[in-house]
Amino acid sequence: MLSYRHAFHAGNFADVLKHIVLVEITAHLLKKDKPFDYIDTHAGAGMYDLNSYEARKLSEFKQGIGLLNSLEYPELAKYFEVLESVNQNTGQLQQYPGSPYFALSMMRAVDKAHLHEMHNKDFKLLEKLTASNTLFKAQINLHEKDGYAGLLRILPPFSRRALVLIDPSYEVKSEYQSMIDTIIKAHKKFATGIYAIWYPVVDRARIKQIDNILYKSGIPDIQRFELGLSDDSDEKGMTASGMWVINPPWGLFKKMQSVLPKLLKNMTLDNSSHLNTSYRCEVLVSE
Ligand SMILES: C[S@@+](CC[C@H](N)C(=O)[O-])C[C@H]1O[C@@H](n2cnc3c(N)ncnc32)[C@H](O)[C@@H]1O
Repeated sequence: MLSYRHAFHAGNFADVLKHIVLVEITAHLLKKDKPFDYIDTHAGAGMYDLNSYEARKLSEFKQGIGLLNSLEYPELAKYFEVLESVNQNTGQLQQYPGSPYFALSMMRAVDKAHLHEMHNKDFKLLEKLTASNTLFKAQINLHEKDGYAGLLRILPPFSRRALVLIDPSYEVKSEYQSMIDTIIKAHKKFATGIYAIWYPVVDRARIKQIDNILYKSGIPDIQRFELGLSDDSDEKGMTASGMWVINPPWGLFKKMQSVLPKLLKNMTLDNSSHLNTSYRCEVLVSE
């Protein structure tokens, strides 16, 4: 039984980093005329009302997207364009798009999206969103099924070009292992795909362990981008979050090197309790 609902967390600092990476990779794939597939293993509802009970309960977006001003980020024009369009360009922050929305609003009619969501309520919301939106041009395949198995079924995609977003909620600890097993199998089936995998830093030792497993798996080209709003701790819940990107597009590293320090500055300015903030842009190496 799944209890996680992304509506409680939409637009938080982790979402911002994840969706910036997603938009950058999608923009890279759009540079060629050749079609590509977007495979979202954990799609969520696709759109979040920031005035809802869920979003207001923790108001995490106020420490994330709520602290950013698009005028300070000309290099993230597409990310903010999507965000502003769902807010009807009013300058108000009422809605925050989920990963399927960011990807679909950029994709073309020749491209294909495969969206997996197992929570019945979020799946229904995703279904409604994708059915009603005339802006979405790509072919959309919705699956109310396990995204890990779904991914392995789809690979290798007919297009031979793909972005795979793996964004689990890690509700159960065994999910880290499912994620790693799936990545290794997926990479064997389709080594040239771009894989973007989200992770929370709740226990730093676990992240280091996964770094090592990924590195030792022989998957050659992995980068890691991370944003931390406080020092690592066993008690505080998620202190940082990041993305592993396999086969990252040229230019992503440089872009993140310039964007991450700015994000960190904007997201910690208002709060003096953020004493041990950090960001990382790394090429994965074994420790
Ligand atoms: C972190 S949220 C996804 C957020 C979304 N990717 C975004 O960025 O807007 C994780 C989602 O995965 C769903 N989920 C959990 N386990 C799943 C699985 N094995 N397969 C597909 N969906 C799953 C949860 O119901 C939840 O909606």
